[in-house]
Parts: sequence; structure tokens; C-alpha cells
Amino acid sequence: MLGMTGTKFGCGAALCGACTVHIDGVATRSCITLVDSVEGAEVTTIEAIGATPVGAQIQKAWLDLDVPQCGYCQSGQIMSAAELLAGNPDPSDSDIDAAMAGNACRCGTYLRIREAIKQAAATSTSRQQGG
Ligand code: FES
Ligand code: FES
Repeated sequence: MLGMTGTKFGCGAALCGACTVHIDGVATRSCITLVDSVEGAEVTTIEAIGATPVGAQIQKAWLDLDVPQCGYCQSGQIMSAAELLAGNPDPSDSDIDAAMAGNACRCGTYLRIREAIKQAAATSTSRQQGG
């Protein structure tokens, strides 16, 4: 759709998170979202998340820590992480686990995802503090 291939289709039933996009800043499973329901809303996909400060820090952390394995789940993971850090710039492990619980990774990259979110949070926080 629209030539953008970053958002992935997995389960089609809101169970895996691979299809996650932001609708007006809220992480949303696009596989169960009707197009009519988002008329007039701002839809952000993985292709644009790097244009936001939080998204850029997350993408850098993902690269620094070599988070992806096969990569299929990763655009959804990043979109959920971006929503988390936009609302909570210094999340605890349990905050991270709760926010990311709906994003499955068959390759088991969960520990690297958590570390990357922490790195992105630390970078964002130090930037806000001028450090
Ligand atoms: S494809 Fe949408 S949650 Fe799995
Ligand atoms: S990196 Fe392969 S499914 Fe997550």
C-alpha cells in the first residue's frame, strides 16, 4: 500500500504486533483497523518514525545494539517503543515489558530490545538535560 513496505502483516488478529503503526501518536494494530476509522487522523508508519527525536534515538539504539535478527517483527517493535518513550522518557524494566508485551518476536530478541529502549531513553534524557 502506498509503496511503503516497512509495516508487516503477521497474525491478522491483533496478537503479534508486527503491523503496529501510530494513529494520532497511539500505537495501533493496523491489521484490525478499518481505513474508514482513521479518516482525518495522522497515521505514522516505520518509514517516518525516524523523523521524530524519540524515533531517531530508538533507531540509533537498534543499530548500535544489532537488535534485529530476521527483522520481521522489528518495525512493530520500534513503533511500540516509540510510543512508550514519547509518554515515558525513563521507563523501568517493568514499564518496558508492559509496553512491549503485545509485540512478539519469534527470533527471541527481547533482551536486546529492552537494552535498546534503555539506551534510547538514556540518550534522550541526557539530551533533554543538555548532557
Ligand atoms: S498482524 Fe496485526 S497484530 Fe499481528
Ligand atoms: S527479529 Fe525475527 S521475529 Fe523478531
